[in-house]
Amino acid sequence: MKNFIVAIDGPAGSGKSTVAKILAKKYAMTYLDTGAMYRMCALYFIENEISIDKKKNIEENLPLINIDIEKDKFFLNGKDVSLEIRTPKVTGMVSYVAKIKEIREKMVELQRKISEGKDVILDGRDIGTVVFPNADLKIFLVASPEERAKRRMKDYEEKGIHEDYEKVLASILERDFIDSTRKEGPLKKASDAVEISTDGDTIDETVAKLGVFIGVAKEKKARREEEQGE
Ligand code: CDP
Repeated sequence: MKNFIVAIDGPAGSGKSTVAKILAKKYAMTYLDTGAMYRMCALYFIENEISIDKKKNIEENLPLINIDIEKDKFFLNGKDVSLEIRTPKVTGMVSYVAKIKEIREKMVELQRKISEGKDVILDGRDIGTVVFPNADLKIFLVASPEERAKRRMKDYEEKGIHEDYEKVLASILERDFIDSTRKEGPLKKASDAVEISTDGDTIDETVAKLGVFIGVAKEKKARREEEQGE
């Protein structure tokens, strides 16, 4: 079968990366966390104390941002930043960085390059609409803001980060707003995406639901390729 692409989009904390990781393992596919790429860009501007408000700063610094991904480790200019990119500081800044056209163009190009010739599950905001509009399966994962904030609190606790529930909830809502209202690659359900709510579901239940759709999409692709004699 030609490379099989699954796009999982949805708002902050809807469970995309957790289920995408499990599904990728289960179906022997590559997993690409595109949010981590935007987080690395945000970290670059924070660490180097460069304002993102000036176009000139973006133009000059974009070529200096080198991103490498090895399994579940993320490298920014050769340094492992897997932990730093998950801090509330980066989370608070990332949506502003991800709004910038030039940054999105570079990340989208890189996402397509990394995916070339592979069976891939990508999670993000614009995968089914911009990065791979012809993906074999598009999922739009949603959950209530309260549930998503609770999950994010749990993530932070596991990392030893203490944050207020109200603050986490506000940050999620702010990010949803910025992500959905931006001009370039906004958070949006593709017209041909399957919407799945993860409210009240365990991880296993969501994985099982998505697994059914993956099975059907694989069969559909195999049949189509057979018909076309590929
Ligand atoms: O894991 P969480 O839901 O917190 O977010 P993420 O997937 O790590 O993405 C962090 C941020 O990156 C999002 O809030 C978006 O602003 C941006 N992003 C994007 O613009 N496009 C993507 N394909 C993925 C993430």
